[in-house]
This record gives sequence, structure tokens and C-alpha cells, in this order.
Amino acid sequence: MTKKILAHAAQLVTCSGSKAKRGSDMNDLHIIEDGAVIITDDMISAVGTTEELLPKAVGAEIIDCCGKAVLPGFVDSHTHFIFGGYRPLEFSWRLSGVSYMEIMKRGGGINATTIPTRTASLEQLKIDGKKRLSSMLSYGVTTVEGKSGYGLDADTEIKQLEAMRQLNQEHPIDIVTTFMGAHSVPSEFSGRTDDYVDYIIAEVLPAVAAGKLAEFCDVFCEADVFDIEQSRRLLLAAKDHGMKIKLHADEIIRIGGTELAAELGAVSADHLLQASDKGIGMMAEKGVIATLLPATAFSLKEPYARARKMIDSGCAVAMATDFNPGSCFTNSVPLLFALATIYMGMTIEEAVTAMTINGAAALKREEEIGSIDAGKKADIIVLEFPSYQFLHYHFAVNIVERVFKSGELVYDKRKCHGEQL
Ligand code: NIG
Ligand code: FE
Repeated sequence: MTKKILAHAAQLVTCSGSKAKRGSDMNDLHIIEDGAVIITDDMISAVGTTEELLPKAVGAEIIDCCGKAVLPGFVDSHTHFIFGGYRPLEFSWRLSGVSYMEIMKRGGGINATTIPTRTASLEQLKIDGKKRLSSMLSYGVTTVEGKSGYGLDADTEIKQLEAMRQLNQEHPIDIVTTFMGAHSVPSEFSGRTDDYVDYIIAEVLPAVAAGKLAEFCDVFCEADVFDIEQSRRLLLAAKDHGMKIKLHADEIIRIGGTELAAELGAVSADHLLQASDKGIGMMAEKGVIATLLPATAFSLKEPYARARKMIDSGCAVAMATDFNPGSCFTNSVPLLFALATIYMGMTIEEAVTAMTINGAAALKREEEIGSIDAGKKADIIVLEFPSYQFLHYHFAVNIVERVFKSGELVYDKRKCHGEQL
């Protein structure tokens, strides 16, 4: 048994709780000044003030957090980090005025990533994936969700999911996998979207489920991609296989994906730039997590999701990067904090809740991670500054100094910078 105590944290930002925080509760971070955490093996065993806990930590390794804020590890609950190839030219095309959906219709977008993902070996996907995970870890991300959806055929979808399954064992970050075969219609099914949905339901979903390769199923429910009826059909089939569901909903054009998420009891509805008042009300009523992806709106120059309206309506809002090679080629957590508070009307407290306990809830992990509470996994980050306020005040800069994953120190910026410890 190993025992550590993180002591003298200027602020221990616990985000305490084991349920998603909704509405005004999102502002309560449950902060302990001069806080301490005892870690036994990979778990948090006690939380309190340094004065209370130090006498109980006889023989424990003492980790001084004087002058630092300590928080739960961030949960990036929506990414597409396993893919082959890159699409830098599309970024320039978009800036010159061609829209994301127009590029997709011309054969770019998701389908342009399908070709290099199909030809990439499992090993290559893992090598690239591992580098991306290490970058995420340096931003304080301790759990990440990853979607398939660049294969659009059984073999490649399974290859993407298998890469994540193996990486979950080989890299400190925990990976939660989502099957997203309905991300786009591949060229071989062009003009036959219903046939493609039939194929996914008949051949791909059963194989993914049989291999226990994905916990969630997601769909790009969007005009000219998968409509409401096609999305409903696919998600109901996924539920029959015991999968939990998520939707890319009302991102570009309002077609009612938000309402569908509530109707089907989805764990989360994501993007939501165009979510209607009615849809927002339904998410609040049904407890669907509203996962906002501000870096995507920023990158696409689309209006931000109505975070204020959602929180004030009683929704639980989570926030994630949407890291992917097209609409949002960044995994920057500092950018999310800046956009959320400067442009989306969220308080920094709400944004921290959205990246921690609510991110965990978007992955159905709210009882295991997302807060600093006794009995949860010891996924903890130490900031370079004494307050969580620096997460937006020092905008767009990564201020994560140390990351503890399952109780182990897995990242220390001071070592990278050659500081004397
Ligand atoms: O969440 N909108 C659909 N899917 C991704 C983009 C994927 C891509 O462009 O490669 C998203 O933004
Ligand atoms: Fe996405």
C-alpha cells in the first residue's frame, strides 16, 4: 500500500459531488483553503484541511502544494482523436468563405479523413494517438472520450476502436470509447443514406457490440447528413445492444436533434449551437447533459451555443474540446476556458464544473471521477497559481504544473523546464 498526502494547497477545488451539477449548482466548487488530500494507492482516501489531515497521514509521502490550486483532473468528454491524415487546406478554404458543410458536400470533410484512416495500420493509429494523449495529459486531462467514425466500414471502425482499447491499457489517460459509424455517408453509399444506416445496424453495430469495443454510440444528426428518423433508427438499435447514446445535435442547422436526444434518453447532446428553447427545456427536464464545444464554434466562425440560457433553464452543461482533424484541430483546454467566460457568458466556476464533474457525468463516470472526494479515483491536477481564477485570467496559457493519474505523478512541467525541485 502506498500513501501520499497533497498538503497546503492554497485552494483545494474539490467540485465535490457524485452527480451532474445543474443550473445554479454549477457555481459551487466546494473549495477548501489550505486543503489536503490523502491518496491511498490509486484512490482518494480523505479530503480536508491540512491541519485536519496531516496528523492522520503518518508515514505518507508529503507533497507540498503551497501557493498552488489543486483540482480534479479534467474530463474531455468529446473528441475524435484517432484518425489518419490531416486537412490543413480546408482551414484556409473556410477562412476564405467556403462553409464546413459545403466542403463536406464537395467530398472534403470527414470523408477526406476516411481514406488515410482506412489505409493506416493499427500501429500507426496508435503511435499518433499516443502523442495526442500525451499532449492532452499536459493540459490536465485525465479521462478522454474518443470516437470512431473515420472508417465508415466495419474493418476500419473496429480498427479505430481497437486502437483506443489498446491505448487505454498503454497510456495513463483513461479512454472511454464511442462508436460513431454514422459520422458521414461514405462514397460507396453516396445518395443511399438509408442503405448505409441499414448496413451499420445489420453489420457494424453487432460486431462492435460483440467485441465490447464501445460504451456509447453517437451520430452526426445534421441536415444533409443523418436526419432525425435515420438517427432515431440507429440510436434505438444501439440501445438494443446495450449501448448508451450521444448525439451531435443541432450543430449547423436546427433540425431537432436536441429534442431527439431528450426523447431517447441520451446521456448527452453535443454542439447545440442551434438548439431551440423547447429543446433546451426538454434537456433540462430529462437530465440530458448539454455538452458544449466552444473551440469548434470558434474554428468554424459559427455563433456559440447558448450556455447561459441552458444553465439558467436548469441544464447540466459539460464542456469538451471536440479535437478532430477538420472542424476543430485543437485539444487546448485553456482556449475552452477563455471562450466560455469571455464569449459564452459562463462564469469561471461554471466552466470548471463543466470540465470536471459534468464532463464525468457526460461519460456516466460521475461516481468514479470528476471531483476530489474520498472513494474516487485519485485523478488530480496542481496549477502553477494559487487560484482556479487563473484558468481564465491567464487566458490561453496552459497553467497545469503537475498531473496525478490514479495516484501516480505522470506529468510535471517543472521537470520539463529543468527547474530545481
Ligand atoms: O464534431 N460535426 C461532425 N463531426 C466532427 C467533425 C469531424 C471532422 O470534421 O473531421 C465535429 O465537429
Ligand atoms: Fe464531434
